Amino acid sequence: MCIMESLVGKHIVLGITGSIAAYKSAYLVRALIKKGADVQVVMTPSAKEFIAPLTLSTLTQKPVVSEFFDRRDGSWHSHVALGQWADLMLIAPASASTIAKMANGIADNMLLTTYLSMKAPTFVAPAMDLDMYRHEATTDNLNTLKSRGITIIEPGNGFLASGLEGKGRMEEPEAIVKHIEAFFSKSQQLGNKKVLITAGPTYEAIDTVRFIGNHSSGKMGIALAEAFRDAGAEVTLVLGPSALPDPECVHCIRVTTALEMLAASERPFKECDIAIFSAAVADFRPKKAFQGKIKREMQQDPLIIELEPNPDIAATLSAQKRSDQLTGGFALETEVNVLEAQRKLKSKQLDFIVLNSLSEAGSGFGVDTNRIRIIDKEEKDPIVYPLTDKKEVARQIVDFVVGKQAHAY
Ligand code: PMT
Repeated sequence: MCIMESLVGKHIVLGITGSIAAYKSAYLVRALIKKGADVQVVMTPSAKEFIAPLTLSTLTQKPVVSEFFDRRDGSWHSHVALGQWADLMLIAPASASTIAKMANGIADNMLLTTYLSMKAPTFVAPAMDLDMYRHEATTDNLNTLKSRGITIIEPGNGFLASGLEGKGRMEEPEAIVKHIEAFFSKSQQLGNKKVLITAGPTYEAIDTVRFIGNHSSGKMGIALAEAFRDAGAEVTLVLGPSALPDPECVHCIRVTTALEMLAASERPFKECDIAIFSAAVADFRPKKAFQGKIKREMQQDPLIIELEPNPDIAATLSAQKRSDQLTGGFALETEVNVLEAQRKLKSKQLDFIVLNSLSEAGSGFGVDTNRIRIIDKEEKDPIVYPLTDKKEVARQIVDFVVGKQAHAY
Protein backbone atom coordinates (compact mmCIF):
# COMPACT_ATOMS: atom_id res chain seq x y z
CA MET A 1 0.00 0.00 0.00
CA CYS A 2 1.44 3.34 -1.03
CA ILE A 3 1.20 6.01 1.67
CA MET A 4 1.26 9.55 0.24
CA GLU A 5 2.77 12.36 2.27
CA SER A 6 0.11 15.02 2.22
CA LEU A 7 1.85 17.14 -0.43
CA VAL A 8 3.56 14.41 -2.48
CA GLY A 9 3.61 15.29 -6.15
CA LYS A 10 2.09 18.73 -5.54
CA HIS A 11 3.67 21.47 -7.64
CA ILE A 12 3.85 24.66 -5.60
CA VAL A 13 4.99 28.01 -6.98
CA LEU A 14 6.23 30.02 -4.01
CA GLY A 15 6.29 33.76 -4.67
CA ILE A 16 8.54 35.77 -2.35
CA THR A 17 8.34 39.57 -2.15
CA GLY A 18 10.47 42.25 -0.50
CA SER A 19 9.67 42.03 3.19
CA ILE A 20 11.76 41.44 6.27
CA ALA A 21 9.74 38.20 6.68
CA ALA A 22 11.42 36.87 3.52
CA TYR A 23 14.02 35.18 5.75
CA LYS A 24 11.22 32.81 6.86
CA SER A 25 10.85 31.60 3.26
CA ALA A 26 13.78 29.24 3.70
CA TYR A 27 11.89 27.51 6.56
CA LEU A 28 8.72 27.52 4.47
CA VAL A 29 10.46 25.90 1.49
CA ARG A 30 12.00 23.26 3.77
CA ALA A 31 8.63 22.48 5.41
CA LEU A 32 6.86 22.17 2.03
CA ILE A 33 9.57 19.90 0.63
CA LYS A 34 9.47 17.75 3.77
CA LYS A 35 5.79 17.10 3.06
CA GLY A 36 6.68 15.93 -0.44
CA ALA A 37 5.94 19.10 -2.45
CA ASP A 38 7.91 20.13 -5.53
CA VAL A 39 8.63 23.84 -5.02
CA GLN A 40 9.54 26.48 -7.63
CA VAL A 41 10.54 29.83 -6.14
CA VAL A 42 9.70 33.06 -7.97
CA MET A 43 11.11 36.25 -6.36
CA THR A 44 10.49 39.94 -6.90
CA PRO A 45 13.68 41.97 -7.42
CA SER A 46 13.38 43.52 -3.93
CA ALA A 47 12.96 40.11 -2.26
CA LYS A 48 16.59 39.46 -3.20
CA GLU A 49 17.61 42.27 -0.82
CA PHE A 50 16.26 40.17 2.06
CA ILE A 51 17.20 36.59 1.20
CA ALA A 52 19.80 35.18 -1.18
CA PRO A 53 18.40 33.28 -4.19
CA LEU A 54 21.24 30.78 -3.70
CA THR A 55 19.78 29.69 -0.34
CA LEU A 56 16.43 29.00 -1.97
CA SER A 57 17.77 27.33 -5.10
CA THR A 58 19.91 25.06 -2.92
CA LEU A 59 16.87 24.03 -0.89
CA THR A 60 14.58 23.49 -3.89
CA GLN A 61 17.33 22.09 -6.16
CA LYS A 62 15.99 24.40 -8.86
CA PRO A 63 17.15 27.78 -10.12
CA VAL A 64 15.12 30.59 -8.63
CA VAL A 65 13.12 32.56 -11.20
CA SER A 66 13.07 36.34 -10.87
CA GLU A 67 13.80 37.89 -14.24
CA PHE A 68 11.94 37.53 -17.54
CA PHE A 69 15.22 36.48 -19.17
CA ASP A 70 18.08 34.39 -17.83
CA ARG A 71 21.04 36.79 -17.64
CA ARG A 72 23.52 34.04 -18.50
CA ASP A 73 22.08 32.73 -21.77
CA GLY A 74 19.21 35.12 -22.51
CA SER A 75 16.65 32.28 -22.41
CA TRP A 76 13.05 33.22 -21.65
CA HIS A 77 11.40 32.20 -18.37
CA SER A 78 7.82 31.27 -19.16
CA HIS A 79 5.32 32.52 -16.60
CA VAL A 80 2.60 30.79 -18.65
CA ALA A 81 4.35 27.41 -18.25
CA LEU A 82 4.61 28.00 -14.48
CA GLY A 83 0.91 28.85 -14.38
CA GLN A 84 0.13 25.50 -15.98
CA TRP A 85 2.68 23.50 -13.96
CA ALA A 86 1.45 24.62 -10.54
CA ASP A 87 -1.17 22.90 -8.39
CA LEU A 88 -1.08 25.92 -6.09
CA MET A 89 0.57 29.34 -5.91
CA LEU A 90 1.58 30.67 -2.51
CA ILE A 91 2.83 34.22 -2.10
CA ALA A 92 4.60 34.45 1.24
CA PRO A 93 5.58 36.98 2.38
CA ALA A 94 3.28 39.21 0.32
CA SER A 95 4.14 42.90 0.73
CA ALA A 96 1.56 45.71 0.62
CA SER A 97 2.96 46.74 -2.75
CA THR A 98 2.58 43.26 -4.34
CA ILE A 99 -0.93 42.88 -2.90
CA ALA A 100 -1.88 46.27 -4.40
CA LYS A 101 -0.44 45.32 -7.79
CA MET A 102 -2.24 41.95 -7.72
CA ALA A 103 -5.54 43.70 -6.94
CA ASN A 104 -5.02 46.03 -9.90
CA GLY A 105 -3.65 43.60 -12.45
CA ILE A 106 -0.23 45.26 -12.65
CA ALA A 107 2.38 42.95 -14.14
CA ASP A 108 5.77 44.64 -13.82
CA ASN A 109 7.79 41.69 -12.55
CA MET A 110 8.03 37.94 -13.01
CA LEU A 111 6.07 37.12 -9.85
CA LEU A 112 3.13 39.27 -10.94
CA THR A 113 3.05 37.93 -14.50
CA THR A 114 3.14 34.40 -13.06
CA TYR A 115 0.20 35.30 -10.79
CA LEU A 116 -1.78 36.69 -13.73
CA SER A 117 -1.17 33.50 -15.75
CA MET A 118 -1.89 31.19 -12.83
CA LYS A 119 -4.35 28.36 -13.46
CA ALA A 120 -4.14 26.99 -9.90
CA PRO A 121 -5.62 28.33 -6.64
CA THR A 122 -3.61 31.15 -5.04
CA PHE A 123 -2.84 31.73 -1.34
CA VAL A 124 -1.39 34.95 0.03
CA ALA A 125 0.35 35.46 3.41
CA PRO A 126 0.62 39.24 3.93
CA ALA A 127 3.60 40.75 5.75
CA MET A 128 3.91 44.47 6.53
CA ASP A 129 3.87 46.80 9.49
CA LEU A 130 0.62 47.30 11.36
CA ASP A 131 -0.11 50.82 10.05
CA MET A 132 0.26 49.74 6.45
CA TYR A 133 -1.85 46.68 7.14
CA ARG A 134 -4.61 48.79 8.74
CA HIS A 135 -4.65 51.37 5.92
CA GLU A 136 -7.94 51.26 4.06
CA ALA A 137 -6.14 50.93 0.72
CA THR A 138 -4.62 47.64 1.93
CA THR A 139 -7.97 46.50 3.35
CA ASP A 140 -9.64 47.24 0.00
CA ASN A 141 -6.92 45.41 -1.90
CA LEU A 142 -7.13 42.34 0.35
CA ASN A 143 -10.92 42.34 -0.03
CA THR A 144 -10.52 42.52 -3.80
CA LEU A 145 -8.25 39.47 -3.71
CA LYS A 146 -10.69 37.61 -1.44
CA SER A 147 -13.56 38.40 -3.80
CA ARG A 148 -11.54 36.74 -6.58
CA GLY A 149 -11.28 33.51 -4.58
CA ILE A 150 -7.76 34.06 -3.25
CA THR A 151 -7.19 32.74 0.26
CA ILE A 152 -5.54 35.16 2.67
CA ILE A 153 -3.51 33.46 5.39
CA GLU A 154 -3.03 35.68 8.42
CA PRO A 155 -2.09 35.11 12.02
CA GLY A 156 -5.33 34.69 13.94
CA ASN A 157 -7.21 32.81 11.21
CA GLY A 158 -4.55 30.16 11.16
CA PHE A 159 -3.84 26.93 12.93
CA LEU A 160 -1.45 28.60 15.37
CA ALA A 161 -3.67 31.47 16.52
CA SER A 162 -1.37 34.31 17.41
CA GLY A 163 -3.82 37.00 18.60
CA LEU A 164 -4.59 40.41 17.16
CA GLU A 165 -1.22 41.88 17.95
CA GLY A 166 0.18 39.66 15.22
CA LYS A 167 -1.84 41.30 12.41
CA GLY A 168 0.31 42.35 9.50
CA ARG A 169 3.02 39.91 10.55
CA MET A 170 3.49 36.91 8.25
CA GLU A 171 1.95 33.69 9.56
CA GLU A 172 4.51 31.13 10.78
CA PRO A 173 5.75 28.70 8.10
CA GLU A 174 4.37 25.57 9.88
CA ALA A 175 0.91 27.16 10.09
CA ILE A 176 1.04 28.15 6.41
CA VAL A 177 1.89 24.55 5.49
CA LYS A 178 -1.09 23.35 7.57
CA HIS A 179 -3.38 25.66 5.56
CA ILE A 180 -2.03 24.21 2.33
CA GLU A 181 -2.41 20.62 3.57
CA ALA A 182 -5.98 21.34 4.70
CA PHE A 183 -6.75 22.77 1.28
CA PHE A 184 -5.52 19.65 -0.50
CA SER A 185 -7.22 17.25 1.89
CA LYS A 186 -10.53 19.08 1.38
CA SER A 187 -10.13 18.37 -2.29
CA GLN A 188 -10.16 14.61 -1.54
CA GLN A 189 -13.68 14.40 -2.95
CA LEU A 190 -13.29 10.82 -4.17
CA GLY A 191 -11.90 9.25 -0.98
CA ASN A 192 -12.90 5.54 -0.73
CA LYS A 193 -13.68 5.38 -4.46
CA LYS A 194 -11.95 2.87 -6.69
CA VAL A 195 -11.15 3.99 -10.21
CA LEU A 196 -10.03 2.00 -13.25
CA ILE A 197 -8.35 3.79 -16.14
CA THR A 198 -7.19 2.30 -19.42
CA ALA A 199 -4.55 4.34 -21.22
CA GLY A 200 -1.90 4.41 -23.92
CA PRO A 201 -1.81 2.51 -27.20
CA THR A 202 -1.88 -1.23 -27.79
CA TYR A 203 0.66 -2.98 -30.00
CA GLU A 204 -0.46 -5.96 -32.06
CA ALA A 205 2.39 -8.09 -33.35
CA ILE A 206 2.82 -8.63 -37.11
CA ASP A 207 6.03 -10.54 -36.57
CA THR A 208 8.69 -10.62 -33.87
CA VAL A 209 9.83 -7.05 -34.59
CA ARG A 210 6.84 -5.25 -36.15
CA PHE A 211 3.44 -4.30 -34.86
CA ILE A 212 0.21 -2.44 -35.60
CA GLY A 213 -0.07 0.47 -33.16
CA ASN A 214 -0.85 4.16 -32.91
CA HIS A 215 0.62 7.44 -31.68
CA SER A 216 -0.82 7.48 -28.15
CA SER A 217 1.84 8.44 -25.61
CA GLY A 218 -0.15 7.61 -22.47
CA LYS A 219 0.01 11.26 -21.30
CA MET A 220 -3.74 11.81 -21.12
CA GLY A 221 -4.42 8.56 -19.23
CA ILE A 222 -1.53 9.09 -16.81
CA ALA A 223 -2.74 12.64 -16.09
CA LEU A 224 -6.18 11.17 -15.39
CA ALA A 225 -4.75 8.56 -13.03
CA GLU A 226 -2.87 11.29 -11.13
CA ALA A 227 -5.88 13.60 -10.97
CA PHE A 228 -8.15 10.84 -9.60
CA ARG A 229 -5.41 9.85 -7.12
CA ASP A 230 -5.13 13.48 -6.00
CA ALA A 231 -8.90 13.55 -5.46
CA GLY A 232 -8.43 10.70 -2.97
CA ALA A 233 -9.37 7.72 -5.16
CA GLU A 234 -7.60 4.36 -5.24
CA VAL A 235 -6.55 4.11 -8.87
CA THR A 236 -5.68 1.16 -11.10
CA LEU A 237 -4.13 2.22 -14.39
CA VAL A 238 -3.96 -0.40 -17.17
CA LEU A 239 -1.36 1.10 -19.45
CA GLY A 240 -0.34 0.04 -22.94
CA PRO A 241 3.25 0.51 -24.20
CA SER A 242 4.29 4.00 -23.06
CA ALA A 243 7.74 5.49 -22.54
CA LEU A 244 6.47 7.38 -19.48
CA PRO A 245 7.16 6.16 -15.95
CA ASP A 246 4.45 4.72 -13.67
CA PRO A 247 2.68 7.50 -11.78
CA GLU A 248 3.34 7.53 -8.03
CA CYS A 249 0.82 5.87 -5.73
CA VAL A 250 -1.20 4.41 -8.56
CA HIS A 251 -1.50 0.64 -9.16
CA CYS A 252 -0.10 0.50 -12.68
CA ILE A 253 -0.44 -2.67 -14.78
CA ARG A 254 1.63 -2.62 -17.99
CA VAL A 255 0.24 -4.48 -20.99
CA THR A 256 1.04 -4.68 -24.69
CA THR A 257 -1.98 -5.95 -26.63
CA ALA A 258 -5.72 -5.28 -26.56
CA LEU A 259 -6.37 -8.82 -25.33
CA GLU A 260 -3.94 -8.26 -22.45
CA MET A 261 -5.56 -4.89 -21.70
CA LEU A 262 -8.99 -6.48 -21.47
CA ALA A 263 -7.73 -9.36 -19.30
CA ALA A 264 -5.91 -6.96 -16.93
CA SER A 265 -8.97 -4.70 -16.66
CA GLU A 266 -11.59 -7.36 -15.90
CA ARG A 267 -10.95 -7.76 -12.17
CA PRO A 268 -10.32 -4.08 -11.35
CA PHE A 269 -13.51 -3.29 -13.29
CA LYS A 270 -15.59 -5.59 -11.06
CA GLU A 271 -14.19 -3.84 -7.97
CA CYS A 272 -14.30 -0.24 -9.20
CA ASP A 273 -16.83 2.56 -8.75
CA ILE A 274 -15.68 4.53 -11.78
CA ALA A 275 -14.02 3.34 -15.01
CA ILE A 276 -12.60 5.59 -17.68
CA PHE A 277 -11.48 4.12 -20.97
CA SER A 278 -8.93 6.52 -22.41
CA ALA A 279 -6.78 3.94 -24.22
CA ALA A 280 -6.30 4.06 -27.96
CA VAL A 281 -6.93 0.37 -28.55
CA ALA A 282 -6.09 -1.21 -31.89
CA ASP A 283 -9.40 -2.42 -33.30
CA PHE A 284 -7.76 -5.19 -35.30
CA ARG A 285 -4.83 -7.55 -34.81
CA PRO A 286 -2.97 -9.82 -37.25
CA LYS A 287 -4.65 -13.21 -37.18
CA LYS A 288 -1.28 -14.87 -36.77
CA ALA A 289 1.93 -13.22 -35.66
CA PHE A 290 4.85 -14.50 -37.74
CA GLN A 291 7.60 -16.05 -35.60
CA GLY A 292 10.83 -14.27 -36.54
CA LYS A 293 11.21 -11.39 -38.96
CA ILE A 294 9.33 -11.39 -42.25
CA LYS A 295 12.02 -10.92 -44.91
CA ARG A 296 11.50 -9.01 -48.13
CA GLU A 297 13.03 -11.95 -50.09
CA MET A 298 10.45 -14.39 -48.66
CA GLN A 299 7.66 -12.52 -50.46
CA GLN A 300 6.99 -13.22 -54.13
CA ASP A 301 3.53 -11.66 -54.16
CA PRO A 302 2.19 -8.63 -52.27
CA LEU A 303 2.33 -9.35 -48.54
CA ILE A 304 -1.15 -9.86 -47.14
CA ILE A 305 -1.66 -9.62 -43.40
CA GLU A 306 -4.97 -11.07 -42.39
CA LEU A 307 -6.58 -9.12 -39.55
CA GLU A 308 -9.21 -10.11 -37.01
CA PRO A 309 -11.15 -7.79 -34.71
CA ASN A 310 -10.02 -7.10 -31.18
CA PRO A 311 -12.60 -6.97 -28.42
CA ASP A 312 -14.00 -3.54 -27.61
CA ILE A 313 -12.82 -3.18 -24.02
CA ALA A 314 -15.07 -0.23 -23.14
CA ALA A 315 -18.16 -1.91 -24.63
CA THR A 316 -17.41 -5.34 -23.15
CA LEU A 317 -16.93 -4.03 -19.62
CA SER A 318 -19.68 -1.40 -19.74
CA ALA A 319 -22.14 -4.14 -20.74
CA GLN A 320 -21.40 -5.77 -17.34
CA LYS A 321 -21.85 -2.49 -15.44
CA ARG A 322 -23.69 -2.49 -12.11
CA SER A 323 -26.14 0.35 -11.44
CA ASP A 324 -23.74 1.90 -8.89
CA GLN A 325 -20.87 2.08 -11.40
CA LEU A 326 -20.05 5.00 -13.68
CA THR A 327 -18.26 4.50 -16.99
CA GLY A 328 -16.74 7.06 -19.31
CA GLY A 329 -14.95 6.73 -22.62
CA PHE A 330 -13.03 8.90 -25.04
CA ALA A 331 -13.82 9.51 -28.68
CA LEU A 332 -10.88 10.47 -30.84
CA GLU A 333 -12.14 11.91 -34.09
CA THR A 334 -10.45 13.58 -37.05
CA GLU A 335 -13.11 16.33 -36.94
CA VAL A 336 -15.16 17.78 -34.07
CA ASN A 337 -17.86 15.17 -34.65
CA VAL A 338 -20.33 15.34 -31.78
CA LEU A 339 -22.80 13.00 -33.52
CA GLU A 340 -20.18 10.28 -33.90
CA ALA A 341 -19.14 10.68 -30.25
CA GLN A 342 -22.82 10.38 -29.25
CA ARG A 343 -23.10 7.22 -31.34
CA LYS A 344 -20.09 5.72 -29.51
CA LEU A 345 -21.50 6.78 -26.14
CA LYS A 346 -24.70 4.86 -26.88
CA SER A 347 -23.24 1.81 -28.58
CA LYS A 348 -20.68 1.29 -25.80
CA GLN A 349 -23.33 1.89 -23.06
CA LEU A 350 -21.21 4.58 -21.41
CA ASP A 351 -22.44 7.27 -19.01
CA PHE A 352 -20.36 9.95 -20.67
CA ILE A 353 -17.81 10.35 -23.42
CA VAL A 354 -14.93 12.81 -23.81
CA LEU A 355 -14.58 14.03 -27.38
CA ASN A 356 -11.17 15.20 -28.58
CA SER A 357 -10.32 15.94 -32.15
CA LEU A 358 -7.12 15.79 -34.18
CA SER A 359 -8.40 18.72 -36.27
CA GLU A 360 -7.96 21.10 -33.31
CA ALA A 361 -4.38 22.31 -32.85
CA GLY A 362 -2.76 21.10 -29.63
CA SER A 363 -5.23 18.24 -29.17
CA GLY A 364 -5.05 14.45 -29.19
CA PHE A 365 -1.96 12.24 -29.49
CA GLY A 366 1.42 12.99 -27.96
CA VAL A 367 1.03 16.70 -27.16
CA ASP A 368 0.88 18.06 -23.58
CA THR A 369 -2.43 19.85 -24.17
CA ASN A 370 -5.93 18.85 -25.17
CA ARG A 371 -9.29 20.41 -25.90
CA ILE A 372 -12.28 18.36 -24.85
CA ARG A 373 -16.04 18.31 -24.99
CA ILE A 374 -17.81 16.10 -22.46
CA ILE A 375 -21.04 14.51 -23.63
CA ASP A 376 -23.23 13.27 -20.80
CA LYS A 377 -25.80 10.59 -21.70
CA GLU A 378 -28.41 12.60 -19.73
CA GLU A 379 -27.74 15.92 -21.51
CA LYS A 380 -28.39 17.14 -25.03
CA ASP A 381 -25.48 19.55 -25.40
CA PRO A 382 -21.79 18.85 -24.80
CA ILE A 383 -19.84 20.81 -22.18
CA VAL A 384 -17.13 22.61 -24.12
CA TYR A 385 -13.75 23.25 -22.44
CA PRO A 386 -10.88 25.47 -23.63
CA LEU A 387 -7.53 24.16 -24.88
CA THR A 388 -5.34 23.54 -21.82
CA ASP A 389 -2.67 21.32 -20.30
CA LYS A 390 -3.62 17.59 -20.07
CA LYS A 391 -3.21 17.78 -16.27
CA GLU A 392 -5.85 20.52 -16.16
CA VAL A 393 -8.02 18.55 -18.61
CA ALA A 394 -7.78 15.58 -16.23
CA ARG A 395 -8.90 17.81 -13.33
CA GLN A 396 -11.85 19.01 -15.43
CA ILE A 397 -12.87 15.38 -15.98
CA VAL A 398 -12.49 14.65 -12.24
CA ASP A 399 -14.70 17.65 -11.43
CA PHE A 400 -17.28 16.42 -13.92
CA VAL A 401 -17.24 12.94 -12.32
CA VAL A 402 -17.49 14.43 -8.80
CA GLY A 403 -20.55 16.38 -10.00
CA LYS A 404 -22.11 13.18 -11.40
CA GLN A 405 -21.43 11.31 -8.14
CA ALA A 406 -22.98 14.10 -6.06
CA HIS A 407 -26.05 13.87 -8.28
CA ALA A 408 -26.25 10.09 -7.92
CA TYR A 409 -26.65 10.04 -4.10
O1 PMT B 1 -1.98 9.13 -24.92
P1 PMT B 1 -1.95 10.55 -25.47
O2 PMT B 1 -0.80 10.77 -26.43
O3 PMT B 1 -1.98 11.57 -24.36
O4 PMT B 1 -3.28 10.76 -26.33
C1 PMT B 1 -4.52 10.76 -25.72
C2 PMT B 1 -5.61 10.15 -26.63
C3 PMT B 1 -5.76 10.98 -27.88
C4 PMT B 1 -5.23 8.70 -27.00
C5 PMT B 1 -6.93 10.14 -25.78
O5 PMT B 1 -7.25 11.47 -25.43
C6 PMT B 1 -8.08 9.50 -26.53
O6 PMT B 1 -8.76 10.13 -27.32
N1 PMT B 1 -8.31 8.18 -26.31
C7 PMT B 1 -9.28 7.38 -27.06
C8 PMT B 1 -8.68 6.96 -28.37
C9 PMT B 1 -9.57 6.07 -29.19
O7 PMT B 1 -9.16 5.02 -29.54
O8 PMT B 1 -10.78 6.54 -29.41
P2 PMT B 1 -11.95 5.74 -30.25
O9 PMT B 1 -12.89 6.80 -30.63
O10 PMT B 1 -11.38 4.87 -31.31
O11 PMT B 1 -12.57 4.78 -29.13
C10 PMT B 1 -13.76 5.07 -28.41
C11 PMT B 1 -13.68 4.48 -27.02
O12 PMT B 1 -13.69 3.06 -27.07
C12 PMT B 1 -12.47 4.86 -26.21
O13 PMT B 1 -12.87 5.05 -24.87
C13 PMT B 1 -11.56 3.64 -26.34
O14 PMT B 1 -10.72 3.49 -25.20
C14 PMT B 1 -12.58 2.52 -26.40
N2 PMT B 1 -12.14 1.34 -27.16
C15 PMT B 1 -12.00 1.41 -28.50
C16 PMT B 1 -11.67 0.30 -29.22
C17 PMT B 1 -11.47 -0.92 -28.52
N3 PMT B 1 -11.13 -2.03 -29.17
N4 PMT B 1 -11.59 -0.95 -27.20
C18 PMT B 1 -11.93 0.15 -26.50
O15 PMT B 1 -12.03 0.11 -25.27
